[in-house]
Formats: sequence, structure tokens, C-alpha cells
Amino acid sequence: MATMQAIDNAYLLIESGLIKAFGQSEDAPERADEMIEAEGKLVLPAWCDSHTHLVFAAYREGEFVDKIHGLTYEQIAAKGGGILNSAKKLQNTSEDELFEAALQRLEQLQQSGTGAIEIKSGYGLSYEGEMKMLRVIRRLKQHTKLTIKATFLGAHAFPIEYREDHEGYLDLLLNRLLPEIATEGLADFIDAFCEKGYFSAEETDRVLEAGAKYGLQPKVHVNQFNVIGGVQTSVKHKALSVDHLELLSDEDITALKSSDTMPTALPACSFFLRIPYTPARTIIDAGLPLAIASDFNPGTSPSGNMNFVVSLACIQMRMTPAEAVNAATLNSAYAMGLSQQLGSIAVGKKANLIITKPVSSLAFLPYSFGNNCVERVIIT
Ligand code: NIG
Ligand code: FE
Repeated sequence: MATMQAIDNAYLLIESGLIKAFGQSEDAPERADEMIEAEGKLVLPAWCDSHTHLVFAAYREGEFVDKIHGLTYEQIAAKGGGILNSAKKLQNTSEDELFEAALQRLEQLQQSGTGAIEIKSGYGLSYEGEMKMLRVIRRLKQHTKLTIKATFLGAHAFPIEYREDHEGYLDLLLNRLLPEIATEGLADFIDAFCEKGYFSAEETDRVLEAGAKYGLQPKVHVNQFNVIGGVQTSVKHKALSVDHLELLSDEDITALKSSDTMPTALPACSFFLRIPYTPARTIIDAGLPLAIASDFNPGTSPSGNMNFVVSLACIQMRMTPAEAVNAATLNSAYAMGLSQQLGSIAVGKKANLIITKPVSSLAFLPYSFGNNCVERVIIT
């Protein structure tokens, strides 16, 4: 992760949307249909954002103000805010409205350099609501050049009517929704919020087990506020990623070391909620890889700007600029099952690229936090 190979005075040739060749500029082919001059600028792989809740009905800035007054995420959830608040709003929002709003968000993210993105359901929490969200994600896939992966997160929270009837909700998720989602091919992955007050490790285990029957690999919310065995459960089910990890035990590290699961940090969520940052140095220094993603959602990270996520990774998690860029590109592509097609500049990969403004070095990007260094984004 510490290595970022770079070529000074380079050329890069794109053909049919793929990276055809690159190298020293003196070796560049003489002709191309279109030339883009990039003197003094950096050409990077576009950001890959492997964890978002991009489809939602409304922002929740009221809760933001509650937080300023001292309420915690748990306290806000307890008084009807949080995920259930988003679910209520989503229920009363049409598929078209959800689609238009999400498409606009996507267009903005593309301008800030995102080329591939994972989007979760999980604000439906009912048969209709979850199906509606997943259909919106399918429509987004059809209407944008960004590469999108869909994750079924019906196990995000127990709706109020199922608070005392977990079996009933699991039955809805696993026996009614999952078969339908699989038949229609509406999801690529399965997720659960493994957390006290949400889904226990045992319940998460059942969700992931059921997902596996339908060929859905897990990407799981674990260790955000408490360590309750989510990492071990996820590793057992060969999860593609475990996300959040604001807390991490020695046993978690040991489990991850014997797995192909990508640990994923969501520093914008830590920033926004004022909770601990994922111990990136502990993870990387243990020889593990790390991905970073935005967690874009109205409750805990109302921004999907990956440039800011990369800055936070360096400033708050002490990742080097090279580590943070690798985490936000190749490792995040891996965490969506896309590392063969995206996430680095390599011959044959999709030519999703960022061209920066003139900058003095790679380190300038995270250093110059909040300033837009992205000049042009190519998505093919
Ligand atoms: O990743 N932690 C659970 N899910 C989201 C937040 C959802 C919400 O508050 O709306 C997260 O932070
Ligand atoms: Fe999340």
C-alpha cells in the first residue's frame, strides 16, 4: 500500500474506453483522434467508492443540529430518528423522485472524481420499500456511465412493528425478499448492520448464510460502536469486505489475516459523528490491506466526496498519501469485486481517470483538503 508507482512525463492511450497503453511520453504513438494535454498535472485512476447509501428520500439536518446540542446517534435513533426516520420518508417518496435525486447526486460525485460506486438498499425495511430501492439502483445502473454495484441491506434495522418480533422480520427478509431479489437479479451483494440494538452476530450469521444460497457475497457493517463478533461471522462467510471497524480487537485482526476480506474504513462517518477513526496504522502495520469509502448517507456522512475522504485518511488516520490513494482506488475496487476492471492504471482496464489541476505532488491532494484539485474526470 505504501508504493505508488508513477511515471513523469507520461502518455496514456485510451481506445474503446479501455487503457490501451501508457509509458514515457517519448514512446507515445504519434496519432490519436483526440489529445488531452496534462502538463504539470496528475493522471490518477478515478475514485472507487465501495460503501454508500446513495438512494434516500431526504437529508436529516435536524438530527445534525440535535447532535450539536449533545445527543448521540443512539439517542437520536431511540427518539424515532436515524435509519427508521429515513425509512418513513422513503415510504412516502415515489420511485421516480428517488431516482431523480440519486441521479443528481451521482452526477455531482462523478465531477468530484468518483468512477465506480456501491449503493445499498436498507431504507425500505419493508417488502415494497426494499424492492423500490433496489429498482432505483438498477435504473441508475442503466442511466449512468459510472460502474454501480447493488447491495441488499434489508438487515439495516428492525422496523418498529418488528421490534419484538425479530423472527418475523428475518422471515420477511430471508424467505420473501431474498428469493424475489435473486430472481430479478436486483443485488450483487448482501449486507447487515451487525451492532447492539440492530442485528446480533447470530442474526447476521443467518442473513449471510441465506445470502450465500443465492450467490450474494457479503459486505458487512461491523464494529461501528461495539465489538460483537461481526468480523468473525463475516470472515466465516467469506465476506468481500467488513466496513466501519471504528473498534477492532486483536481477535478481529487475527481473523482478517487468514481471510480474503477487505477491511474498509469510513472516515467521513467518524468525522461527522465524532466517533473514533478506524485504526488504520494498526491494520496496515499488521500486514493487512485497507480500503476507504465515503459511506454517503443522510445520517452519518452526508457527503460522498472521496477527495475529502482521502484527506481525512491522511490527516486523522495517519495514512500516507500513497496509502490513502491506493485505499480509495484499487483496494476499494476490490471491495466491490471490481479490481480486475478498475482501480489502477493498467493495460486493459477501464479508462476511468482523474486529471488534476496543476499540482506539485501527490501529497498536495490530501494536504489541500476542501479545495477542489480535480480538473477533469474521464469515465468511459
Ligand atoms: O453506515 N451504520 C449504519 N448505517 C449507516 C448509517 C445509516 C443512517 O444513519 O441512516 C452507516 O453509518
Ligand atoms: Fe453504511
